[in-house]
Amino acid sequence: MTESVAFTDIKVDDEMVARVEEALRSGRFVKGPLVEQFEAAFADACDAEHAVAVNSGTDAIYLALKSVGVGEGDQVIVPAHTFFASASPILELGAEPVFVDVDPLTYTVDVDHLGRAAERSEDAEAIVPVHLYGHPADMKGIRRVARRHDLAVVEDSCQAHGATYEGQPTGSLGDVGCFSFYPSKNMTVGGDGGILTTDDAEIARRAREYRNHGRNDDGEHVRLGLNHRMDDVSAAFGLEQLSHLADWNAGRQRAAERYRDRLESVTAVRLPTERDDVDHVYHLFVIQSDERDELRDHLESQGIDTGIHYETPVHQTEAIRAEMASVPTLPRTERLVDRILSLPMHPRITDAEVDRVCDEIERFYGER
Ligand SMILES: Cc1ncc(COP(=O)(O)O)c(C=O)c1O
Repeated sequence: MTESVAFTDIKVDDEMVARVEEALRSGRFVKGPLVEQFEAAFADACDAEHAVAVNSGTDAIYLALKSVGVGEGDQVIVPAHTFFASASPILELGAEPVFVDVDPLTYTVDVDHLGRAAERSEDAEAIVPVHLYGHPADMKGIRRVARRHDLAVVEDSCQAHGATYEGQPTGSLGDVGCFSFYPSKNMTVGGDGGILTTDDAEIARRAREYRNHGRNDDGEHVRLGLNHRMDDVSAAFGLEQLSHLADWNAGRQRAAERYRDRLESVTAVRLPTERDDVDHVYHLFVIQSDERDELRDHLESQGIDTGIHYETPVHQTEAIRAEMASVPTLPRTERLVDRILSLPMHPRITDAEVDRVCDEIERFYGER
């Protein structure tokens, strides 16, 4: 019988369980010391002054945008080749997403397209660059556009924990950084969770207040706000996971290198690009192929799990189309959706598993 290859794998070890047990036994489930500890550790890891822990990456993006002042009638520029939640918070805030195309090699926002969108978007308030699949966006170019048009930069770093651009961690490259701890991410909190990072004390203060019923440090309700808090049990799990992040990212990078070495000679497959100025953390290892669906069927038939991230570009989803008077045509994004395939990737994937995936890709092309 052939061995199957799992798409991902989530590590839960005794230390993580012990931390969670300790948190449970403490009886401090919310607003306890562990959330603050986790925030301090995460801010430190991102080279940021402040971190505000919340209950999802979506909430982090929503609160980041709200805290930089995005609201009714504003526009926010965002790539369409991303997960839905890079854009949905914009509409939830009563603002309008201005969708832009991506660079088809790095899958991150195309800076020329971004510049043109900023030129023509008079009500633009912010840009949401997405460090998709773990590859940081071209932040120098993005910051140039942001400065010229006075736009806030809210990094969607939900897939890029520990990635760097010119040696600086994501989450410290714009005005605010947003991370998700959804279980499949490079690190998790053992359930849903998220965090936002910033050097700006005022943005951090607003985010903290919005997160907790609009309450200030004295407990007064000084603005409207809902409950977006992370709980202490999640923070306990997150603290332990964070201590492994660098090793786990190195495991992903090793697997990526092996995929590259093995697949370099398969000319029908386009491998992920890694710019020289970034440290890519391979949340996903995404290849492109003209025969994507047939290749995927072949791999599935051999017990190899794959994914497509994402099947529908955000601007073409039913939910977004229903909200907008018109949506743009974005040729690169629209072409990518039929070509992209995410191969199994996680820190503990073995050489033998990577080899099996590559053998089957070679076999698929050899037999054609
Ligand atoms: C690029 C991107 N943005 C936003 C999110 C939203 O994060 P969450 O699922 O924690 O709400 C995710 C993860 O699912 C993501 O991958």
